[in-house]
Amino acid sequence: MLLEARDLTVCYGALRALDQVSFNVDEGEIVAMIGPNGAGKSTALNAVSGVLDAKGGTIESGKIFFDGESVKGLRTDQLVKKGISLVPEGRRVFPTMTVWENLEMGAYTLNNRRSTEEGIKRVFGLFPQLRERAKQKAGTLSSGEQQMLALGRALMLTPRLLMADEPSLGLSPNFVDLIFDRLVEINKGGTSILLVEQNARMALEVCHRGYVFEIGTIALEGKQASLVEDERVQEVFLGG
Ligand SMILES: Nc1ncnc2c1ncn2[C@@H]1O[C@H](COP(=O)(O)OP(=O)(O)OP(=O)(O)O)[C@@H](O)[C@H]1O
Ligand SMILES: [Mg+2]
Repeated sequence: MLLEARDLTVCYGALRALDQVSFNVDEGEIVAMIGPNGAGKSTALNAVSGVLDAKGGTIESGKIFFDGESVKGLRTDQLVKKGISLVPEGRRVFPTMTVWENLEMGAYTLNNRRSTEEGIKRVFGLFPQLRERAKQKAGTLSSGEQQMLALGRALMLTPRLLMADEPSLGLSPNFVDLIFDRLVEINKGGTSILLVEQNARMALEVCHRGYVFEIGTIALEGKQASLVEDERVQEVFLGG
């Protein structure tokens, strides 16, 4: 198992957002997390990625292992060095920095100009639109382009695990298709992916396995085919 989260209970003050939730990602998998608003999907990603503290959340109990080693409580930069990258909800880019500078930031822990440039070339190969806009300030990019940039930045150090929170949110259908295409391509390149999505239809199309969240718990889990065929999933998430 590449990532294993076991019996995670996470609270924001008095609110228990996750109650003994367990999930895992195997090497090579795309794993989807779907479920209604407020169910705890982002909380699950944030608990793994070390950004929970900043949001006022605490892991009350549970364990998190990456490649067999406990990574619970590590900071984002420590996780990045171990090969875990997060694309947070809302595609945060540095708006006053250029596309190129944003990508450089994705590799700052490396502090190595040559590998940084190789990373940028690789990202431009994946998202050619970004190459054309290398010198443009990120804040002036369209939302689809900003999402490409946020993904690209997370890929600068070729993570073993990419976690993406709602990468398709608010994008036009063409951009949604493009982002999902690229996620599949990234996965074929050897990166495992943990994907939180409102777009259940697309998420269930590209994933190998998935989890269906209900308020604070996981109601259902299974391989792609069994989820797609599940009556409740069809009714609630796939429109019957
Ligand atoms: N920083 C926070 N402080 C307090 N409560 C929070 C915080 N972040 C999330 N919550 C609460 O925790 C619960 C789970 O939220 P979370 O953002 O993980 O849900 P989600 O499944 O990602 O929802 P969505 O699909 O709307 O993004 C919700 O009840 C939410 O109000
Ligand atoms: Mg969320």
